[in-house]
Amino acid sequence: MTTDAVDRSSLFSVDGLVVVITGGGTGIGRMIATALENNGATVYIVGRRLHVLESTAKESNKFEKMYPLQGDVTSKASLLSIVETLKAKHGYINLLVNNSGISFHDTKPPIIRPGSTKEDIKDLQSRFWNSGTPESWAKTFEVNCTAPYFCTVAFLELLDAGNRRGGAGGVTSQVIAVSSVAGFRRDSDNFSVSYSMSKAAVTHLGKLLANVLKDHKIRSNVIAPGFYHSEMTAEIASEDLVMKYIPLQRPGKIADMGGLALFLASRAGAYVNGTVHISDGGRLGLFSSTY
Ligand SMILES: NC(=O)c1ccc[n+]([C@@H]2O[C@H](COP(=O)([O-])OP(=O)(O)OC[C@H]3O[C@@H](n4cnc5c(N)ncnc54)[C@H](OP(=O)(O)O)[C@@H]3O)[C@@H](O)[C@H]2O)c1
Repeated sequence: MTTDAVDRSSLFSVDGLVVVITGGGTGIGRMIATALENNGATVYIVGRRLHVLESTAKESNKFEKMYPLQGDVTSKASLLSIVETLKAKHGYINLLVNNSGISFHDTKPPIIRPGSTKEDIKDLQSRFWNSGTPESWAKTFEVNCTAPYFCTVAFLELLDAGNRRGGAGGVTSQVIAVSSVAGFRRDSDNFSVSYSMSKAAVTHLGKLLANVLKDHKIRSNVIAPGFYHSEMTAEIASEDLVMKYIPLQRPGKIADMGGLALFLASRAGAYVNGTVHISDGGRLGLFSSTY
């Protein structure tokens, strides 16, 4: 074996990869898109707001290989139109990142009345009854797990075509789901039960797909972030959360998410399949969890 096999510029290279990232215009998706495009991949970012995608592509481009694609991941017609665009432009993709997500804050803090040590059962019942609806739950599951499933199915032929071209430097095609550490938490401080459950479901989807797609050598992995600044987390972001509830006492940064994405997308991560990667500065370790 020569040392060329582990030369970092070739081991972590994403040169020539064709990548689709849903929700790539903001937050974590934008971090992944920037890391991959700035290191040589051609990246398509998908979202409903075209102006957001356009400004991200303009601001984050290094090689002018980041392209906006307007679309709604909950619509089959929209997914098929995105696939058709990619089919016409390249005829294959190497990596799909199912990152789009939403959350409703459906679990308000417990009401502990003066003189009592626990929340009255009626207060608990009314808090849970009134803070979410079957519709808000259905929407959360629709974007966070149904959409990643159908988006993956829509891209299967192009992922397979990526493999038939010989992969990218021997790296087989891959689907990455951006889930959350929330999907592992069992503590009662969780801010949204529907969000946590949807993330547990998409984590399982990521594991399941590795087997469902094994005969076609399409890999499936999961990224489970802790706290990163984004549109979604603007409401819960606080100094208290960062200093008390993250052992490293800082939010995740673009280098943290970008480094993990580069590892998984490149030859360095080519043997990784069916696994979950937590990036949370140690946050999950502070809670009772199923991890
Ligand atoms: N930030 C964190 O601390 C954190 C922690 C754990 C997990 N996550 C996960 O990371 C992922 C990215 O979230 P984020 O924190 O970066 O929040 P964000 O900035 O709000 O990103 C969510 C993205 O999803 C897109 N999106 C939502 N609904 C969509 C739809 N129907 N079709 C297409 N795109 C849609 C949004 O774009 P449009 O609105 O323009 O469509 C947006 O770009 C999510 O899955 C989230 O659950 C985040």
